[in-house]
Amino acid sequence: MDLQLEDRTFLVTAASRGLGYGVAEALTYESANVVICGRSENDLKKAKSRLGDRANYFVADVAVEHDIDLLIDHIHSSSPGLDGLYVNAGGPPPGGFNQLKDSDWNRAIDLTLMSSVWLTRKSLPLLRKSHSASILYSTSISVKQPIDNLLLSNAIRPAVVGLMRSLSSELGREGIRVNAVGPGYIRTERVKELLGDSEEAERAIVDNIPMGRMGSPEEFGALCAFLLSPKASYIHGSFILIDGGLYKGMT
Ligand SMILES: NC(=O)c1ccc[n+]([C@@H]2O[C@H](COP(=O)([O-])OP(=O)(O)OC[C@H]3O[C@@H](n4cnc5c(N)ncnc54)[C@H](OP(=O)(O)O)[C@@H]3O)[C@@H](O)[C@H]2O)c1
Repeated sequence: MDLQLEDRTFLVTAASRGLGYGVAEALTYESANVVICGRSENDLKKAKSRLGDRANYFVADVAVEHDIDLLIDHIHSSSPGLDGLYVNAGGPPPGGFNQLKDSDWNRAIDLTLMSSVWLTRKSLPLLRKSHSASILYSTSISVKQPIDNLLLSNAIRPAVVGLMRSLSSELGREGIRVNAVGPGYIRTERVKELLGDSEEAERAIVDNIPMGRMGSPEEFGALCAFLLSPKASYIHGSFILIDGGLYKGMT
């Protein structure tokens, strides 16, 4: 299937590695142009050299509104337009209710929710000029079922899906599609680091996944590239899990 992404331009945030990189790689494979961001310039340079000429990068922390202003200014000056936005950020820190202070909550709200609000608001003028604009919010299976010891993710990520669902009503008639994805366990650098060398820890997770394995960033990237593409033209306001069957609820 031709995803009709050739020469379209996408902003893919938090993308020097992991899920974001998987999305940038899938988009460039389909001959789209991508602007990736992250906080480490060194990591972005390495990612850009692997992605090739269709990628360019900008150093930005998506939890800082001013960084997003500069990132969007960069797109204005370096790209012909913007056809899609993949909204991603680092994960909020682990912890249960008794460990988390107000400052942890406020930082996590900026990182996860306000970054989505700022990126959407500041990208919309550019997206409105595209013939097939779409926004995809990267969240987590925690939107459907809480993950132990990840209270900040469990509490704040559902607000991003609430934002997406509300925007679907507000933006649909303008032809701007919005959706969200909820990964279960995708074997990124972060997940590998968290597991360390412990085969036991990995087995405990994988035993609960009906497909008997974690997903790959390539599988995740393929789904996201499709959802961002004109081929997904009637998928709007949806939250789509990619979890190998890990979520066991009926709805
Ligand atoms: N992998 C999974 O199975 C899974 C499942 C559910 C949800 N998630 C969530 O998906 C997101 C990505 O996870 P991942 O596994 O891809 O992590 P990862 O492998 O650690 O990659 C994170 C990427 O985000 C960038 N980043 C982190 N904080 C940022 C910030 N404030 N501003 C801009 N860029 C930032 C990192 O670069 P710099 O450090 O240089 O900024 C890096 O490029 C996280 O929120 C994670 O909680 C992951």
